[in-house]
Amino acid sequence: MSRKVMGVVMNGVTGRMGYRQHLVRSILAIREQGGLPLGDGTVLWPEPILVGRSAVKLKELADRHGLTHWTTSLDEALAHPLAEVYFDAQVTPAREAALRTAIAAGKHIYTEKPTAESLAGALELARLARAAGVCNGAVQDKLFLPGLLKLKRLVDGGFFGRILSVRGEFGYWVFEGDWQSAQRPSWNYRAEDGGGMILDMFPHWRYVLDGIIAPVRSVYAHTATHIPARVDESGRSYQATADDAAYGVFELAGGITAQINSSWAVRVDRDELVEFQVDGTEGSAVAGLRNCRIQHRASTPKPVWNPDLPAGESFRSQWQQVPDNDEFDNGFKVQWELFLRHVATGSAYHWDLLEGAKGVQLAELGLQSAREGRRLDVPELTL
Ligand SMILES: NC(=O)c1ccc[n+]([C@@H]2O[C@H](COP(=O)([O-])OP(=O)(O)OC[C@H]3O[C@@H](n4cnc5c(N)ncnc54)[C@H](O)[C@@H]3O)[C@@H](O)[C@H]2O)c1
Repeated sequence: MSRKVMGVVMNGVTGRMGYRQHLVRSILAIREQGGLPLGDGTVLWPEPILVGRSAVKLKELADRHGLTHWTTSLDEALAHPLAEVYFDAQVTPAREAALRTAIAAGKHIYTEKPTAESLAGALELARLARAAGVCNGAVQDKLFLPGLLKLKRLVDGGFFGRILSVRGEFGYWVFEGDWQSAQRPSWNYRAEDGGGMILDMFPHWRYVLDGIIAPVRSVYAHTATHIPARVDESGRSYQATADDAAYGVFELAGGITAQINSSWAVRVDRDELVEFQVDGTEGSAVAGLRNCRIQHRASTPKPVWNPDLPAGESFRSQWQQVPDNDEFDNGFKVQWELFLRHVATGSAYHWDLLEGAKGVQLAELGLQSAREGRRLDVPELTL
């Protein structure tokens, strides 16, 4: 088999997402499996070209994984003779300028969400990429998780009948950083640094709802900063200026109501860190990251409200697990493979920068809704 080497400039690989999910679990995992077969006897071999701010960290990381290409200059990375793709997992505010530079250099673009901090910026990136004729994609990893793939399978198979509603619960306790260190970066809690629950999670909820249930038509959001002061990575206390919880109500096409709570100030009483319950006329499902359980109309119990008596049945035990019936790979890696194949062969790829802009649109409208205390329509986006 012949090998096609494709240089992938990777920015933000010293961060949580850039390192673990994108470099190790995706690009290096593709190399460990022998590359990505393209179906024509060729194997695509992604060659990371690491770029970042700290030479010390980049060298250490490159040495740890036997990688040879790294630099602290974005221009130098983009000018590397192997470079074909630019990938961005930097902090959100650094993204737009870097993506513009990479598009101007003629590179194919793959990026973490949110693709920009404003809808205007996100749309402009999509337009620039289209005008430059480069392939482009935004990370929409939740669509490739086993639990949500099973949920999509149920929707596609008509399990629900008419879908009525979706209720999502996302979140966990993020420590304040004083007596136990915080498990998320401090910039997440500062609006001026691109933090905030809505900007972080509404892009995910947009593609999950659009892609699995039905297109989002309106949004109402209530936000809170439940923990007003936190302690950062270097032990300094700071004011949390961003929302750390968002309570959203979304109207979807077809009259479906979706309601999603997102919070970093909640203690988990769920099977998974995110769960979506979908209720339909024929059946219901609860999908998490890995698992999905169902209750069909025919096996639905008939509880009777009587607060004088203890609950007479175990409701959680009345659900049935959806079998895997498949092998599920890491969701980030699956989407990387689809994107790299798209670049190499021109195969179809749906999750582009326009789709990414829809996530930014929902975040922007969600923040506006919270500020103004009213429901806002989500207009169709075109380039
Ligand atoms: N798809 C997902 O599920 C998911 C999950 C978490 C985060 N994200 C996104 O990934 C991006 C990175 O998030 P993270 O949690 O990995 O953050 P992080 O703080 O762990 O990493 C940020 C990276 O950006 C770099 N960086 C560049 N300019 C910087 C600057 N001015 N200040 C600080 N760091 C700078 C850092 O060196 C680091 O490599 C964000 O845009 C976030 O929205 C996506």
